[in-house]
Amino acid sequence: MDFKNLLLEIAEGVAVLTINRPKALNALNEETLLELECAVAGLGENRDVSCVIITGAGEKAFVAGADISAMQPLDAADGRRFAKLGHRVMATIEKLPKPVIAAVNGFALGGGCELALACDIRIASDNARFGQPEVNLGVIPGFGGTQRLPRLIGKGRAKELIFTGDMVDAQEAYRIGLANKVTPLADLLQTARELARKIASKGQYAVRLGKEAINNGLDMDQDKANQYEADLFGICFATADQKEGMQAFLEKRPAKFTGM
Ligand code: CAA
Repeated sequence: MDFKNLLLEIAEGVAVLTINRPKALNALNEETLLELECAVAGLGENRDVSCVIITGAGEKAFVAGADISAMQPLDAADGRRFAKLGHRVMATIEKLPKPVIAAVNGFALGGGCELALACDIRIASDNARFGQPEVNLGVIPGFGGTQRLPRLIGKGRAKELIFTGDMVDAQEAYRIGLANKVTPLADLLQTARELARKIASKGQYAVRLGKEAINNGLDMDQDKANQYEADLFGICFATADQKEGMQAFLEKRPAKFTGM
C-alpha cells in the first residue's frame, strides 16, 4: 500500500515505518495519523513481521508534535475529535500484538513524545530531545501524554515536564527512564534493528503474551494482575514454542521457535 506521509520497509521480520513530512519536522496532521493507523494495523496482520520500528525522516526530528497549523483554527468539539483520533492511533500501536520500538532521531515533542510513549521501547539518538511543550501553545498534551508519561517516569517528573514545557536531552531522558538507551545518530537505526531482530528470534507467542501481561496487568490491582499473569503463563504451556523452548534447553541446543 502506498502512503503519502509514511515510508515502509520490511526486511528480516522487522518493519521500519518512517514518518515522512520532514519539511514540517514530521508533524502529525490528520492524514498522517490515519495513514499511521492503517500501516500499523496492517503490520499487526502481516505474518512476515515480528517487530516494528517507528522513526522520523531526516536527522532533525522524530516527530515535532501534532500539526500546529492544522490545529490552530479548531473549536472545542474539533479539538476533542482530534485528540480522540490521536488516542485511537496511539492505542493501535500500544495494543499491537508485536513489539514496537521508537527510534527517536531528534525532536520528540508533544504528539511526537506521545507517539514514542505509545511504543514499547524507546531508543534515542544523542541529538534527541523529548518534551511536552503544549503549555506554550495554550493546550495540554492530547494524544495520551498526561496518562502515559506519568505512568512511565512518575507523577512528579511528568508534572514538571508538562507544566513547564521544558525539553530534556537524550541523556536526561535515559536517566529518568524515558529512553531505554542512547546511541550516536549514525547508529540509531542499526541499534534499533539489532534489538528488533533479537526480539524476533525469541518465541513470538511468549513475547506477545509478555506485552499483554505488562500492558493490561499494570491497570489491575496486584492480586488480579498476578491471576492474569498465571492465566497467560498457563496459555504458554499450550503452545509448540513452550515444548520446543524447554526441550531445546534440555538438549543443550538453540530453540527453533515457530510462533505457534
Ligand atoms: N506543527 C506544524 N509545523 C511544525 C511543527 C508542528 N508541531 N513543528 C515544526 N513545524 C514546522 C515549522 O513551522 C517550520 O515550517 P516552515 O519552514 O514552513 O516555517 C518547520 O517545521 C521547521 O521548524 P522550525 O523552523 O521551527 O525549526 P527550528 O529548528 O527553529 O525549531 C522546534 C525546531 C524547536 C522543534 C520548533 O519547530 C518547535 O518548537 N516546533 C513545535 C513543537 C511543539 O510545540 N510541539 C507540540 C505541538 S502541540 C501537540 O503536539 C498537541 C498534542 O499533544 C496532540
